[in-house]
Amino acid sequence: MARILVTGGTGYIGSHTTVELMQAGFDVVIVDNLMNSNVGVLDGIEAIVGRRPDYENIDCVDYVALDKLFEKYADIEGIIHFAAYKAVGESVEKPLQYYRNNINSLVNLLELMPIHKVKNIVFSSSCTVYGQPDAAHLPVNENAPIQPALSPYGNTKQICEEIIHDTIHATPNINAIILRYFNPIGAHPTALIGELPNGVPNNLLPYVTQTAAGIRPELRIFGNDYDTPDGTCIRDYIDVVDLAKAHVVALKRMLTNKQEGNEEIFNLGTGRGLSVMEIVETFKRVNNVDVPYKIVERREGDIEKVWADPTRANKVLGWKAERNTEDTLRSCWKWQLRLNEAK
Ligand code: NAD
Ligand code: UD1
Repeated sequence: MARILVTGGTGYIGSHTTVELMQAGFDVVIVDNLMNSNVGVLDGIEAIVGRRPDYENIDCVDYVALDKLFEKYADIEGIIHFAAYKAVGESVEKPLQYYRNNINSLVNLLELMPIHKVKNIVFSSSCTVYGQPDAAHLPVNENAPIQPALSPYGNTKQICEEIIHDTIHATPNINAIILRYFNPIGAHPTALIGELPNGVPNNLLPYVTQTAAGIRPELRIFGNDYDTPDGTCIRDYIDVVDLAKAHVVALKRMLTNKQEGNEEIFNLGTGRGLSVMEIVETFKRVNNVDVPYKIVERREGDIEKVWADPTRANKVLGWKAERNTEDTLRSCWKWQLRLNEAK
């Protein structure tokens, strides 16, 4: 089976994708500088799969180190590029760190691909590129207009998509699939890998589980006066294992030359929008735990409602999000309990 380079492979989505790749028979080499993860994740992957992925502690911004990596693993046939910084608020405070890391990492990989005869790359993008779609574009499909980015982080995703587009135009033997994730949540059903919290969580689900665990006194729900049925914001929460599986399908599509053109873009979501309140209430019910919360002011930069039209991924990739939200929310809690035990 082919060998795949997974950058950011000890991170949240990368670790789940590595598991799915290895279970599908691929060999994986992970490159991660552990900026936002730890090497113990490899133990979790090995415990699930029964094999350990190769691992190299390399910074993707380091062209020379990446060049050597491609020499060492001369059989790499595809890349899944997760490595990036992803905290929206931090990107506003430290824009250059975000531009340097997220853009230079991608440029290095794209430059090295033809040199080492690697043809295929999957890129992690985000629904943030759509901003707030107007009513006519909800649910949002891949043809909806790209809106000006609301943060440097969001801007790096837009710029990276453009860099890929321009590179492929100039280098026709490179294939790319850009995946625009909606809101990934949940953990592997074994609870051996999951999302590692880094300080005070910004995202909803880690905040909910930490509140349920008593680590945070209460969840703050950012606004209940939006134009939605219960007044709280709506998102498309997609299970991380479903999301991971889409990467395997995308890679196989490229490796078997099934692509329509050298560049394809897919939304990865469930097609269903859920409000913050629905998530909190469902989490409480299925896990039989309390989550104290209060309604506070709207969070600056939040989008009122966005959810995916995943028809293209369903039809063209033959991929569909399968895990139901209740099971996903159970996996969030199981993972939090495991983190508590590990302390
Ligand atoms: P994560 O922080 O858990 O994983 C990213 C990994 O990349 C980390 O392990 C980090 O140590 C590593 N990394 C960062 N910069 C690196 C570098 N220069 N060299 C080597 N390793 C580096 O994040 P995640 O949630 O798994 O996100 C993965 C990708 O998906 C990112 O590109 C992110 O922007 C994108 N994405 C995430 C979400 C989300 O909600 N989690 C939504 C949309 C898009
Ligand atoms: C955010 C980013 C997005 C990024 C994604 C993954 C913004 C505007 N968007 O998405 O670009 O791809 O994270 O990192 O920052 N909420 C609360 N209380 C909390 C936390 C969240 O009420 O403590 C609400 C938010 O207002 C939002 C929903 O929960 O309505 C989801 O928030 P979050 O998990 O942060 O994701 P996004 O804002 O959708």
